[in-house]
Amino acid sequence: MYMLSNGRDPGIFVGAVVWLLLSCSFSSAVESDINCLKSLKATLQDPLGYLNSSWDFNNNTEGFICNFLGIECWHPHESKVLNIKLSDLGLKGPFPHGIANCTSLTGLDLSSNKLSGPLPEDIGRIISFITTLDLSSNSFSGQIPTNITNCSYLNVLKLDSNQFTGNIPLGIGQLGRMKSFSVANNQLSGPVPDFGNNSGITAESYANNAGLCGKLLNPCRGAQKKSNSVVIVAAGVGGATFAALVVIFALVFLMRRVSAKKKEEDPEGNKWAKSLKKTKAVKASYYRAYLLETN
Ligand SMILES: *[C@@H]1O[C@H](CO)[C@@H](O)[C@H](O)[C@H]1NC(C)=O
Ligand SMILES: *[C@@H]1O[C@H](CO)[C@@H](O)[C@H](O)[C@H]1NC(C)=O
Ligand SMILES: *[C@@H]1O[C@H](CO)[C@@H](O)[C@H](O)[C@H]1NC(C)=O
Ligand SMILES: *[C@@H]1O[C@H](CO)[C@@H](O)[C@H](O)[C@H]1NC(C)=O
Ligand SMILES: *[C@@H]1O[C@H](CO)[C@@H](O)[C@H](O)[C@H]1NC(C)=O
Ligand SMILES: *[C@@H]1O[C@H](CO)[C@@H](O)[C@H](O)[C@H]1NC(C)=O
Repeated sequence: MYMLSNGRDPGIFVGAVVWLLLSCSFSSAVESDINCLKSLKATLQDPLGYLNSSWDFNNNTEGFICNFLGIECWHPHESKVLNIKLSDLGLKGPFPHGIANCTSLTGLDLSSNKLSGPLPEDIGRIISFITTLDLSSNSFSGQIPTNITNCSYLNVLKLDSNQFTGNIPLGIGQLGRMKSFSVANNQLSGPVPDFGNNSGITAESYANNAGLCGKLLNPCRGAQKKSNSVVIVAAGVGGATFAALVVIFALVFLMRRVSAKKKEEDPEGNKWAKSLKKTKAVKASYYRAYLLETN
């Protein structure tokens, strides 16, 4: 009572400051999310007119963007985007960079459209808090950016049925919250990430690619990083076998050279063969002479 009447309650003062700060950051977050969707609409080509008819920015009602097609907000009267679901709307164009301004976004589903081009190299910064990313059934190409391993909250990552090439960033295997992962139907090659004992990841996740190998698939050639003692022992045995083969080949070669030299240095044997030929010739001529005589 004393504090209140005095009007100097430090608690109230601090509370007021915090409220001011919060409301400032809140309104800038809302502004940012509206900018995000404006940028999305500008980037995505929409030949079927879905966004054109639904995404109308000429409205000042608080939370108006929450009624847009495919937009879910954290709260229906607060323009703060939680999820964007724009699946199967015939959308074209590149990955929308402007999505970085939807700073509280946790889910992005752009599946089954006609989006193309590479994913941004800094995708981990653009959608840092994303838990579900579904870009499946588009025409995205290029490599899957290593930076996606910075999306540490990912539970679901669907990149299947695109035109991705190159290797899968192995760091994806370290994303501990991953429950569902697919890169099937691309042109990926090389070793796949190791998700440990994660039962949500099966060989299906990798089906139909150019040449993936490793865990759940055929082993990679050239003993990819399987840093266990078996590989080391195997390498040791292999090395020993190779060394033994080299020694055997060297011995055989040496012996052959020695025996060849012996033949060359054997004029006796050569003479003997020549003399044998001579005696045969002599015998033949005797035989002919004998025949002539008897006839
Ligand atoms: C978009 O909407 C405007 C009016 O709302 C219309 O004039 C225009 O033809 C539409 N464009 C497409 C591609 O649907
Ligand atoms: C503005 O948005 C609100 C909430 O989504 C909606 O009820 C209202 O009809 C909109 N007004 C116009 C002019 O579109
Ligand atoms: C986010 O919005 C701000 C303000 O409109 C803009 O300057 C910035 O370029 C936007 N960021 C992206 C990644 O589009
Ligand atoms: C991802 O990009 C951000 C910003 O561009 C950078 O800070 C970060 O180190 C990158 N991470 C990886 C794993 O490349
Ligand atoms: C991105 O990843 C790099 C390397 O893994 C790490 O150093 C950095 O702190 C991460 N950045 C964010 C924003 O998570
Ligand atoms: C994976 O499972 C095996 C047996 O099911 C177990 O021995 C091993 O510790 C598990 N590894 C991890 C990282 O959970």
